[in-house]
Amino acid sequence: MISVVSTYWEVELERVAGNSSGVVIVADSKLPRSYSKCVIDICQKLTNVSLIEIEGGEKSKTLITVNNIYDFLDVSGTDRKSVLVCLGGGTITDLGGYVASTYKRGISLVLIPTTVLGMVDAAIGGKTGVNRLVKGSGGVMKNQIGTFYQSSLTVLDQTWLSSLPPDEIRSGWAEMAKHALLVGGAHLNEFMKVSSNLGGIGKFLKESAEIKEKIVSRDEKENGERASLNLGHTIGHALESLSLDNESNESHTKHGEAVAWGLVFALESSVFKLGFNRDLASKLQEWIVTGIEKQIELNSSVEVWSKMCGDKKNVNGNVRDVLLRAPGDIIWDFEWKWEEFTILWEQFREKYT
Ligand SMILES: NC(=O)c1ccc[n+]([C@@H]2O[C@H](COP(=O)([O-])OP(=O)(O)OC[C@H]3O[C@@H](n4cnc5c(N)ncnc54)[C@H](O)[C@@H]3O)[C@@H](O)[C@H]2O)c1
Repeated sequence: MISVVSTYWEVELERVAGNSSGVVIVADSKLPRSYSKCVIDICQKLTNVSLIEIEGGEKSKTLITVNNIYDFLDVSGTDRKSVLVCLGGGTITDLGGYVASTYKRGISLVLIPTTVLGMVDAAIGGKTGVNRLVKGSGGVMKNQIGTFYQSSLTVLDQTWLSSLPPDEIRSGWAEMAKHALLVGGAHLNEFMKVSSNLGGIGKFLKESAEIKEKIVSRDEKENGERASLNLGHTIGHALESLSLDNESNESHTKHGEAVAWGLVFALESSVFKLGFNRDLASKLQEWIVTGIEKQIELNSSVEVWSKMCGDKKNVNGNVRDVLLRAPGDIIWDFEWKWEEFTILWEQFREKYT
């Protein structure tokens, strides 16, 4: 049962805390202190509260951090009636969600996303997970360990976004653009008119989260339609993972930036493989490139393919992807052949590098 609340969420949080034997808050250490204080103040009138701070970001999304949080839960006296509250972006909600779903076979979970990406995507739909460093030459593989686990409450409140840097807002905008491509029609037309800053996208946050909620409610465990939410992600995860492999790269590619470039390639592929209208694809590609405002490294087809081969969506060793016949008309089980992928990708790199 999905419970996403955007107004009077404090009352809902009080209800959840009041019915628990204690609240543990996992908060991003980079957030203003007033954010965790706000959550502590609401909960501690009703129960014991402990706080653990984790640095938000992809590098914390590991089994080592999971274990550190388990240790903290032990010393905080967490039991099966406790609630774990995640306060942060998608990395904190994915990580904390995984902890909540596995500690003592599962404790209650509340998600309070503080990024655009978290609000419209990561905190909706019950996927949790951490990345895995694969032995040998596999490198970092995104979200290879994870569970499906619904929160008892997810809070959507734009107030948390006031401290979010513009590049993080644009990163979340990319997932909103993906949702717009998945539904097409009036939503896409209206969303294309606004700029990729908070002033532009603010009024679309709830609608965008609802697009995901609706798809998830029809296919929670990704047996079919939910895979459409991976539009732009086969390439996106490959580029993001390659950037994470490069240890000297402190400011690695953000998830949304990689997804944005994945969307641009998905449109290109959709023209060649499914007859998507060329003029419309070019217009949409220009919109996405302008909106994300950042050129990222587009690695060689050999490097990208090696990551694509390890993607979770693959079936029987075939590399799966999501393409479109038109906005809103989705093929979620497209299979790539190496020969055609390498030609298309190398042409794409030449065009956009
Ligand atoms: N579970 C899912 O269904 C799902 C869907 C999409 C993405 N994801 C995951 O989400 C992650 C990306 O999420 P993200 O973009 O939110 O990244 P993030 O959690 O790394 O946050 C981005 C950056 O913003 C900082 N930050 C967060 N909130 C802030 C605020 N209010 N003010 C100032 N700084 C703030 C963080 O410390 C971090 O440096 C990826 O790991 C991706 O795999 C999961």
